[in-house]
Amino acid sequence: MSEENKILLQADSEVSSPKDILDSCRLSVEAFDRLSLEASQTPDDFWGNMAREQLEWFTPFKTVLNWTFPTYTWFEEGELNITHNCLDRHVRDGKRHQLAYLWVGEDGKEKKLTYGELLNRVSRLANGLKSLGIQKGDTVTIYMPLIVEQLVAMLACARIGAIHSVVFGGFSAAALKLRIEDARSKVVITASWTRRRGKKVDLKSVVDEAVGSLGFVEKVIVAQREGDNYELLDTELDFHQFMWAQKPHCPPTPMKAEDPLFILYTSGTTGKPKGVLHTVGGYSLWTHVTTGLTFDLRKDDLFWCSADPGWITGHSYIVYGPLSNGVSSLVSEGSPDYPDPGRWWMIVQKYGVNVFYTAPTAVRLFMKHGDEWPKKYDLSSLRILGSVGEPINPEAWQWYYKHIGQEKCAIVDTWWQTETGGHMITTIPSMTMKPGRAGRPYFGVDADVVDKAGNRLPPNTVGHLIIRRPWPSALRTCWGEHERFEKYWTSMPGQVYYAGDLATKDEAGYIMILGRADDVLNVSGHRIGTAEVESALVSHSCVAESAVIGRPHEVKGESIKAFVVLIRGVEAKDTLKDNIRMHVRHELGALAVPDDIEFLDKLPKTRSGKIMRRVLKAQELGMDVGDTSTLED
Ligand code: WT7
Repeated sequence: MSEENKILLQADSEVSSPKDILDSCRLSVEAFDRLSLEASQTPDDFWGNMAREQLEWFTPFKTVLNWTFPTYTWFEEGELNITHNCLDRHVRDGKRHQLAYLWVGEDGKEKKLTYGELLNRVSRLANGLKSLGIQKGDTVTIYMPLIVEQLVAMLACARIGAIHSVVFGGFSAAALKLRIEDARSKVVITASWTRRRGKKVDLKSVVDEAVGSLGFVEKVIVAQREGDNYELLDTELDFHQFMWAQKPHCPPTPMKAEDPLFILYTSGTTGKPKGVLHTVGGYSLWTHVTTGLTFDLRKDDLFWCSADPGWITGHSYIVYGPLSNGVSSLVSEGSPDYPDPGRWWMIVQKYGVNVFYTAPTAVRLFMKHGDEWPKKYDLSSLRILGSVGEPINPEAWQWYYKHIGQEKCAIVDTWWQTETGGHMITTIPSMTMKPGRAGRPYFGVDADVVDKAGNRLPPNTVGHLIIRRPWPSALRTCWGEHERFEKYWTSMPGQVYYAGDLATKDEAGYIMILGRADDVLNVSGHRIGTAEVESALVSHSCVAESAVIGRPHEVKGESIKAFVVLIRGVEAKDTLKDNIRMHVRHELGALAVPDDIEFLDKLPKTRSGKIMRRVLKAQELGMDVGDTSTLED
């Protein structure tokens, strides 16, 4: 959809918050409105007070926001450590024996870790990293499946000020290598394998291939899983032996609020992924506050965020947010519908999950399997259901509300991005829900919908989503490419943050997200740049040129379609398509493999040589091609 289509969206349905939730939740709409007013009238007092109340600081800050466009800092002079707020303060305050993580394996195995045990392991591994010479400011790449060792590894880095760069375990060796190289990590932490749909998938060999030619990687730490007995090289360490050999006490390194906490690579409109950087102070505050309020968390809640820590959702809402709030989280390795489509609902029933957070693609997958699956289980422990990653279509929303929430749960549709660090737009549980509309901006988040010239648009008009002021957990830079950071704040007139999404806002201030305005795809809630897939395609020896588009898909949201022009003389055979697919899998990983490849003689281009993906997409979907005056021929 383009901004020119100034369509008036019809008024959508409203669902009021279930009565039990309204009566019991910690933040009423009136209180939320008061906070929003305060945040806009006296932002420094507002954020300063919140940061002092919610977090423990080793050294107090004096400045709240220091904004010299386009750069900003928050709580500059303050010193803290996120692991102190996530672990030590809870252990001190009587939560030593409280469950931090309940891990469930694909084969049903369980592992439990209390706050005390987690602190012990994190401290040991942190000491281990120090013994390898890892210092504050060094990067460590983590390539692991969702096992407790992954969470320990992230926190161990944060404890000593090492910058973690977690790479999703589904990325290929080539994609991993690119990320290790860009971050120049001396240490890589991995695991032997993960399990996907009953099969063991080797991860260690992927790391071997990735680091083989990287001379600067000094050590690879390998979490061997039950039954494993890998012969390790001199440059390799066994995660468990190494961790248990260390002392269990490691004081948290005092970090300046603006010291880096982690980088996380995400896709943009150009080929290379960007390493989005978050800093300790602002990110600590925002993940803490949003986790507590969006999910209306109570101290005895069992919270389940189904994401993988390889993405930002896992960083913020499996690791830092829930731990900072001192609640118990469930984490599960494996696919949502393996061994059968009742697996997740079995887990909810068995452990009594109270708050559940997942992506629309999973909801649509379950919709396809039918409501007989959730019906088999008692889901009455659920209170809040979250959605994230892509727009949730009203049908999927209704299904989630009815068949999972049994019309007794509040749904929170949280819009945010890797760059925003935490939730930006959502309803909180006490707010009236509007299926298909994410909700209202959080207090202090000055989000708006504007035209290309930066002018505010009237209600229900499609435009670009922007945010007018920096918020505490806004990205601070892109690793080694500060100019890419600046682009977020200079793409639109008026010194505002450009989100890259198309949106509308209604009279009540509810924002509806329509999808990306740029050449970024959203496949099963995973962000993939068309340029990344295209460069993987053209690196195949038979491919001369390519163009990639997203096609609507009933479960994945979007699927990848690639148009390929072959090198002259190469025969366009179907077996070649499979070969090209394999190549993309090798370059990027399974998540970026096109569902469909079509061979063309040439691609539509502008006279200046730019590929017109829009034309291909319109043709593919049988839509009006629109203005083609710039088309070459
Ligand atoms: C893009 C960011 C935020 C964690 C997961 C994705 C889309 C995200 C929603 C939502 C509509 C959404 C946007 C955004 N998106 N949440 N609730 N409704 N769209 O993080 O990989 O950085 O992707 O995901 O298009 O720009 P990400």
